[in-house]
Amino acid sequence: MNETIFNQRDLRFLAKNSLDQDAVELDKIKRSYAQGMPLAYILGKEEFFGYEFTVNPSVLIPRPETELIVEKALEIIKSDKLNSVLDLCCGCGNIAIAIKKSTQSQLRVFASDLSLEALRIAKINADRHKAEIGFIQSDLLTGLRGEFFDIIVSNPPYVEDESIKGSLSYEPRTALSGGVDGLEVIRKITGQADGCLKEKGYLIIEIGYQHKDKLKDHIDNLGLYRIVDWIKDYSGHFRGIVLQKNG
Ligand SMILES: C[S@@+](CC[C@H](N)C(=O)[O-])C[C@H]1O[C@@H](n2cnc3c(N)ncnc32)[C@H](O)[C@@H]1O
Repeated sequence: MNETIFNQRDLRFLAKNSLDQDAVELDKIKRSYAQGMPLAYILGKEEFFGYEFTVNPSVLIPRPETELIVEKALEIIKSDKLNSVLDLCCGCGNIAIAIKKSTQSQLRVFASDLSLEALRIAKINADRHKAEIGFIQSDLLTGLRGEFFDIIVSNPPYVEDESIKGSLSYEPRTALSGGVDGLEVIRKITGQADGCLKEKGYLIIEIGYQHKDKLKDHIDNLGLYRIVDWIKDYSGHFRGIVLQKNG
């Protein structure tokens, strides 16, 4: 077999975990990786915010840029002394669990997803990290009418359909697809969230680096929120929006 070339991040992760693997296992890992399977699915785990999360092909693999969304949410939760948070579209539960583990125990943390399999994995992760989270199955916020949160944090599906190819095709399409322009789910979330936020509640959404201008127009037209901030990644790309419900 040709020598397998791991990317740097995967190589570091593999090096950290390879003590557990015997030679036969390592050979299997290399073979699957060479075929394009993401390392996190091969090993069944990924690191996020300093914690290890169980993953399988029914959940998105947590990405480093989502840590920026968690950091911003924690900043607001702490400065405004918020009491309740919803991780909308929770996947393996990484955002909800990272927030719960980084805050005082009184913070009530909920996590929702449409996928029952994602919720099953998220529950495994919450148990593993002893994080008390309330899990809810819901199609976006439609199953949460009558519930009001101080802050809703979401990494929703936002990939343009035509970009779902290559290694992304190993991940669930429902976790990725944001329609033709990537903003289909985000438009629904922004349309629904004001009904589940307390007065002056916050909504933080991860976005694609090319979405800023179109999203700004959409929020301005909607007239339900004030744009508090944009979250930039280390390359200077806009990767998140912070909204506050109008009072
Ligand atoms: C981009 S993944 C995010 C997963 C995780 N929060 C993370 O940061 O890695 C989006 C998640 O949205 C969920 N999802 C897709 N459509 C949904 C809907 N209509 N209602 C609720 N969840 C949905 C998918 O099942 C998937 O778990």
